[in-house]
Parts: sequence; structure tokens; C-alpha cells
Amino acid sequence: MLRRLHKEQPASFAFTPANQAWAEAQITKYPEGRQASAIIPLFWRAQEQTGWLTRPAIEHVSEMLGLAYIRGLEVASFYFMFQLQPVGSVAHIQVCGTTSCMICGAEDLMAVCKDKIAAKPHEISADGKFSWEEVECLGSCSNAPMAQIGKDYFEDLTAARFGEIIDELAAGKVPTPGPQNGRYAAEPLSGLTSLTEYDSGKTQYNASVQLATDIGDTIKRINGTEVPLLAPWQGKSAKSAAKPAAKAKAKPAPKAVAKAPASKAKSIAKPKTTAAAPPVAADGPGKKPRTMKAPRKAGADDLKLIKGVGPKMESLLHGLGFFHFDQVSKWSADEVAWVDQNLEGFKGRVSRDSWVDQAKSLAAGEETEFSQRAKKDGIYKK
Ligand code: FES
Repeated sequence: MLRRLHKEQPASFAFTPANQAWAEAQITKYPEGRQASAIIPLFWRAQEQTGWLTRPAIEHVSEMLGLAYIRGLEVASFYFMFQLQPVGSVAHIQVCGTTSCMICGAEDLMAVCKDKIAAKPHEISADGKFSWEEVECLGSCSNAPMAQIGKDYFEDLTAARFGEIIDELAAGKVPTPGPQNGRYAAEPLSGLTSLTEYDSGKTQYNASVQLATDIGDTIKRINGTEVPLLAPWQGKSAKSAAKPAAKAKAKPAPKAVAKAPASKAKSIAKPKTTAAAPPVAADGPGKKPRTMKAPRKAGADDLKLIKGVGPKMESLLHGLGFFHFDQVSKWSADEVAWVDQNLEGFKGRVSRDSWVDQAKSLAAGEETEFSQRAKKDGIYKK
């Protein structure tokens, strides 16, 4: 199936403050040099925030990870879990059409989708609430036929029950997921033949369904009102981390920017992309390094050869007055702290990726492992 970006795209994308905190936490899970591995969870979060994965979201996440857009697009277009077109506002229903489900009635389920939602997959229903598609095996073959709705599996379906589930969702209810024929999990339809002493009655439902019912609304999209899920090694509990996120929501302008005059704050958020962009005054901890009003006559260095600097970041650095490797190579710890704080949207990137060490090698005319790869693969040359 040909997967391409939808012809109509929003102008921009930004994570909500809480989702941004969550996304930054995900990146810290990966070892040095492997931060790009966070692309799947970040795309997924972006999709959950807006319902589908937009081009600006793909570009935004790629920027966060220091990846060329094409790399992000390759991932987004490869995995069917990413929806590249708008979906229903309530739910996008994925009906398994692989062998077990097909034998057990998947075609009947798809007939229900055609009748109740839209004649073709990926079309949105007339009321805007639903869309559907056929997907490959979802790994619940012993409970065939089944469909995934939101984060949950609805199993052992019949066409009649499936129709009821869609009606319940349309009415604002969240039906109980899991087996719909009374089975607890994936035990034989005729009942247990072994492990009969297993106490399946500890919870009302099997673990997945119990969790879903405890959460209560598993088709709700992640909209930034959730407690951010931060990694323990960040030294913050999820609860304490929620406070700055909540504050950030109330006061979107970070402290460093809020102190600056409006015109300056704007130039931090959206630096001019020309090489001669003037340096901007910013605030925060640490010491501001020496800046330049413009690059030297020979032109600016390609700062994108520093791992962690993409096209957007390079523009941001130009806007702050940094054009050359030797500038970066001379930053002291205090100066690194200042720059880290003033890379709006990319805070902490300088120390995370050891820019100073990289810049020292590049300023000396040497290659780094990343710069060699970047030149060879042509990444960041868009
Ligand atoms: S065949 Fe449908 S879940 Fe495996």
C-alpha cells in the first residue's frame, strides 16, 4: 500500500508542555549517540496528541532528535501504526484481516465498518467521529476475530457486538475491551483443561482489560493534562515534575525569555535564518559566551557537522551569534550552561552531545565519527 503524506497539512506542530517534558525524558533513555532511537515513542506521542501524524510533527520530532527530515519521514511512512491522514475524532478502528481473524469473521466486521463508518478504509464517517482500516495480525489470533480501538483490543467479536461497540463509542461511552464472549483471556472456549487451580478470579477482568477499565477512558487522546512520565534517572518524581509542566502551561514563556523585551524574546524563539543574524541577548544561569554579529568573511562553518545540530538548531545558533567551530570549542562550563539554557526547545543539547569536544576536533580540521558519517551519508544537507 502506498503511504504518503496527506495533501492538507497544518501550519505547525508543538508538543504541549507536558508532552514536551515527556518527550525529553524519553530521549534520555537512550545511550550517547543513540538518541534518534526515541523516534518511535515521540512520533507516537505526537500522533496521540493530534490524532494523526502530520508533516510538521514529523519535522519537529526529527529536529528534536537531530535527524534530517527524510529520516523521520522514512520511519513515519514505514510503520502502519502511524496515521498519515486525519482520523475520526472519537476513534480510528483497526480490524485485523489476517488468517485467523479472516477465517473467524473479519469480513463481517469490515462490513460493519463499511455500513456504520465509511465505504472505504481511511475515510472519515459523516459525523467525523470514526475512521477504520484493515490491518495485519495484531497478535491476538486465539481470540479471533478482533479489532484494536484506541489502546485496547476488542476480541472474540461478532458483527452484532462490534456494531454495538461502535454505537456505544458514538454515544460517548467507553465499552469494556477484551473478549466479548465471556472468556477471561485466551483459554479454550470450552474452559480450562489444565492449570485449573489457577485463581483467575483475583481481578474481575484479565490484566489488560482490568487496567483499561481502571483507567476508565482508553480512547481519550493524550492532550498534555496528564502527569508527565519522567525517567527516574532524571532525579524527579513524576509528581514533582508535573509542577513545572503545569506552570509552563499557565505561563508558556520560559523565564529566560520572559525577562527579555518582547522583540528579543521573539528572536530567540524564531531566529533569523540568515547567516548574518545579529546575536540576541538572553537570560538564565551561566555566563554568556562571546558572540559575533556575523560570520567571518570566509563564511560560517557547517555547524550541522556537530552531532545534535540540525538545520533548525543551526539557525538558532546563528541567531545567538555563533557561526564557527572555534567559538563553540572555547565555551567554558559556565558558558555551556548559558547556551544550554538559551536553546529554546532544545535545552541541554550542548552538554548532552558534548558539543565542545566535537567542536575542538572540527576546529582543528579533524573529523569526528559523526562528521564523517554526516558527510558520507549526506545527512543534514537538505
Ligand atoms: S490473525 Fe487476527 S490477531 Fe492474529
